[in-house]
Amino acid sequence: MTKELAVIIDFGGPYTQLIARRIRELKVYCEILPYTVSVTQIQNLQPQALILSGGVKSVSEPEAPAVDTAVYQLGVPILGICYGMQLMARDLGGVVKAAERREYEQTQLVVQAENDLFAGLGKEITVWLGHGDVVVQPPPGFTITAAGPETPVAAMADSAQRFYAVQFHPEVENTPQGSEILENFLFKTAGFAGDWTTEAFIDSTLQDIRAVVGENEQVVCGLSGGVDSSVAAVLVHKAIGDRLTCIFVDHGLLRKDEARQVMETFTKKFNMKVIHVDAAAEFLSKLQGAAEPEQKRKIIGAEFIRVFEREAAKIGKIDYLVQGTVYPDIIESGTPGGTVIKSHHNVGGLPEDLKFKLIEPLSHLFKDEVRRVGEALHIPEEIVWRHPFPGPGLAIRVLGEITEDKLAILREADAIMVEEIKKAGLYRKIWQAFCVLPNIRSVGVLGDKRTYAYTIALRAVTSHDGMTADWYRFPHEVLARISNRIVNEVPHVNRVVFDITAKPPSTIEWE
Ligand code: XMP
Repeated sequence: MTKELAVIIDFGGPYTQLIARRIRELKVYCEILPYTVSVTQIQNLQPQALILSGGVKSVSEPEAPAVDTAVYQLGVPILGICYGMQLMARDLGGVVKAAERREYEQTQLVVQAENDLFAGLGKEITVWLGHGDVVVQPPPGFTITAAGPETPVAAMADSAQRFYAVQFHPEVENTPQGSEILENFLFKTAGFAGDWTTEAFIDSTLQDIRAVVGENEQVVCGLSGGVDSSVAAVLVHKAIGDRLTCIFVDHGLLRKDEARQVMETFTKKFNMKVIHVDAAAEFLSKLQGAAEPEQKRKIIGAEFIRVFEREAAKIGKIDYLVQGTVYPDIIESGTPGGTVIKSHHNVGGLPEDLKFKLIEPLSHLFKDEVRRVGEALHIPEEIVWRHPFPGPGLAIRVLGEITEDKLAILREADAIMVEEIKKAGLYRKIWQAFCVLPNIRSVGVLGDKRTYAYTIALRAVTSHDGMTADWYRFPHEVLARISNRIVNEVPHVNRVVFDITAKPPSTIEWE
């Protein structure tokens, strides 16, 4: 595999990650860098192409993000998208007009001049166009390559320098031929081979890990059963075998059968060294009397670190720690232009002063790419496609004080819900689905007897990233089956309700 790279300079637009994903779908590896990156840093990476992303500001604002104009002297093809186009126009001597309204609409553009970017698309293209600032006069050397009813300069190009720019967003679905436009830029203009595949990623990652970890060095990985840590652990194990030891801290707050499944998968199927720490009793006793959500999180976080360190110390000298960090974690914490503000939940995370070096084999992959790697490594579907599960586990789904009895009720109800969702073929349509045990008992009737028992709340949401979410519109018969089974099969439950709130204003978890 050639080491090809496209660099996306991020000016904070909402679609920057989408540009990266579209490019990677075309089997071209790309990275997102903040606009504050220096030209030397870009040069060191030797990219074959640059993409200037969209942004949320106007290029005429004093604080508008900009990149060092020396990028235009690098001799690599550049594609400017929306804000990226306006910046390119301004930097190279064109004229940009600030618009009063900033709206998006789908519109038709007429291709004005033959050029590589629009090759094979026909005379008219449907695009998703932003009415923010517009270029009124392209820089010297540029020609207008597409125009719309209200946008005379909807695209421009200086083919000799291989500079292209579009006012619209080729990365979104509302630009139906967007992928072809990106394909033209990457393959026709920039000459990429497009050989970045899951298999190629696995091969090069295995080589990298083998090159880093010495013959006598020891590596440890905290396994949670979630997709990221599982894929990271299997990759590292494939690279260095038994020099990797996994530590699976079972805090007793996992779902039904989860611990058994994790252990079976990794020890039997993959033959990995996994230390199963059954710390349920320790965690439960520490949690006694704690009813407040943040207090529970703190207790679990601190206890997790204590148990992990204690187990790691038993292994002896450890040189590396494997972490399942994924690309969005890195981009979100490192891009000054970004508008996404994410508070990172770090329960189950480890302290910064641990004396290990980090191996983060997935740190440049998006979640769907991690899943593809997992599938290619033959990790079972139940793990690869598992819904996200919070570090504190069921502790934040039993509201208020936790008892073993309540955990047992929740586990049973939750297992029924997940089973019915899977049976109905809906599991992959849902971002997260789970049961909550609110601290409520209400009156019911069973046969000729009055009951006074717990309520179970069902929560199921769709989401792209967990930041916002909507409640999932279940077919009623699936809800009916879940409800019937829970009240019939789970003792101490006589009522089932369904949470129909979006995030915001709610959160996904109840605590
Ligand atoms: P909320 O409830 O804030 O959750 O809408 C957003 C996403 O984060 C997960 N979550 C957590 N994950 N530790 C974690 O590791 C936590 O303390 C925590 N709290 C919420 C939640 O399951 C959802 O995916």
